[in-house]
Amino acid sequence: MAKSAKKTTSKNDSQSSEETLTMQKDPKLQELFVEELKDIYWAEKHLVKTLPKMQKAASTSELKQALTDHLEATKQHVSRLEQVFELMGKKAQGKKCEAMEGLAKEGQGLIDDTESGTATRDVGIILASQKVEHYEIATYGGLTQLAKTLGFVEVAEILATTLKEEKNADELLTIIAEKSINYQAAGE
Ligand SMILES: [Fe+2]
Ligand SMILES: [Fe+2]
Repeated sequence: MAKSAKKTTSKNDSQSSEETLTMQKDPKLQELFVEELKDIYWAEKHLVKTLPKMQKAASTSELKQALTDHLEATKQHVSRLEQVFELMGKKAQGKKCEAMEGLAKEGQGLIDDTESGTATRDVGIILASQKVEHYEIATYGGLTQLAKTLGFVEVAEILATTLKEEKNADELLTIIAEKSINYQAAGE
């Protein structure tokens, strides 16, 4: 590894730094970018299956509505990623995202450990959902930046749109928690 890195450096000494940067970064970075797209594609599709369970388990109408809306948004995130794959000239393909599988399991665990119809369960659902949103925010934030670095302007814009929606979803969950559910749960 160190040997080949050294070789690359000396080979590029004579080239302009900008050219070197593009030549060095593109193939490997593009590969990494596509692999990460597969990861979030799997994660979003997994959420399409998970969110209805969370929605069903929630009791307050506000939280139920937020989860219903986010399910619709998540379906959009899936089709946006398909658009991105198409722009990249790649087949839309998922690769199991261990992190999202774990977060979804944790969410299910919180539901199993709390009583149905309680504000405590809703607090658990909000916590689990916010962990999911933060994972997505980190992923889309990173991928948007990477797309820019690679010069995929349109792809970057698409990913930034989803990033914004994930941030909005996270903020809405915070508002719902602050407004009433945490207080109700404290009294249970
Ligand atoms: Fe999403
Ligand atoms: Fe999300």
